[in-house]
Amino acid sequence: MKIAVLGAAGQLGRDLCPRLAALGEVVPLSRADIDLSQPSTITTTRIASYDLDYFVNAAAYNFVDKAETEPEAAFAVNALGVRALARACDEAGALLVHYSTDFVFGIDPAHTVPRTETDLPGPASAYGVSKLAGEYFVLDEVYGALVIRTCGLYGMWGSGGKGGNFVETMLRVSGQGKPLRVVNDQRCTPSYTADVAAATVSLLERGVKGLIHVTNSGDCTWYEFAAEIFRQSGLTPDLIPITSAEFGAAAKRPAYSVLSTAKLVSQGVPALRPWQEALAAYLVERQNKPA
Ligand SMILES: NC(=O)c1ccc[n+]([C@@H]2O[C@H](COP(=O)([O-])OP(=O)(O)OC[C@H]3O[C@@H](n4cnc5c(N)ncnc54)[C@H](OP(=O)(O)O)[C@@H]3O)[C@@H](O)[C@H]2O)c1
Repeated sequence: MKIAVLGAAGQLGRDLCPRLAALGEVVPLSRADIDLSQPSTITTTRIASYDLDYFVNAAAYNFVDKAETEPEAAFAVNALGVRALARACDEAGALLVHYSTDFVFGIDPAHTVPRTETDLPGPASAYGVSKLAGEYFVLDEVYGALVIRTCGLYGMWGSGGKGGNFVETMLRVSGQGKPLRVVNDQRCTPSYTADVAAATVSLLERGVKGLIHVTNSGDCTWYEFAAEIFRQSGLTPDLIPITSAEFGAAAKRPAYSVLSTAKLVSQGVPALRPWQEALAAYLVERQNKPA
């Protein structure tokens, strides 16, 4: 089996590559190989040249706030680039695996039930709309594609686009002696890229197709996540809960975007460990991270 991973240097991509190697030969790809912002260059001939069984797309335009002022850039990569990739993969006979986000759901502060795959999306940001368009294009263009919605990713290698991850940001700023103001009215599930990558392998082994939610178990707000990071790290910074309105990010985010993973479990993949356990594993593993 031969599997390409686009975005192989991203935080999810770097955890995917070694785990997918259990299934066959992995071909790590970067923007230099396939640039999603240039859809016309993503041809069937190009994809067919890799002679793939699976094409795993872990690449995306991930600047959630910046997308509000440059929606064209978000759409070029997350929607039109993905559409071209989906078409080329379908014609080249490579099964596409694609990642999406909890940000396809709306703000709705009254919503308090985990979102299922059949729930109606209603993104409130340009990034969310671009990712939803990407989902639709993949599922429309490719019979048998797998689209994995995940949430609040943090990984050993950090998000290149965002310059790190939430855990590392919290640990870094905790040492600066200033009060830390963290949003306490957005509830979701922080998810460790190592766990999402392992679940991806399990889904491929089982031949699962369609749209599926994959996150760690449980839920929290970003403030509660920060508090747990500090508790597990033995740190006691001045942590202050604030509202999304007080934080004032450019892009609106869902108030409740906990993703139900009942479908994942129904496909025979065990529920991912609770987010607190995943965080504990991450905090241990980061100590052993190669330079
Ligand atoms: N991060 C989160 O909290 C989160 C939450 C939910 C869902 N997701 C989804 O999960 C997936 C993985 O996210 P991540 O956090 O691992 O992202 P990441 O670490 O920021 O990595 C994104 C990768 O995409 C590549 N890329 C960006 N623009 C590209 C283009 N035009 N053509 C080809 N490659 C391009 C980047 O390459 P360069 O280094 O060259 O820029 C990078 O390797 C994405 O689909 C994302 O939308 C993420």
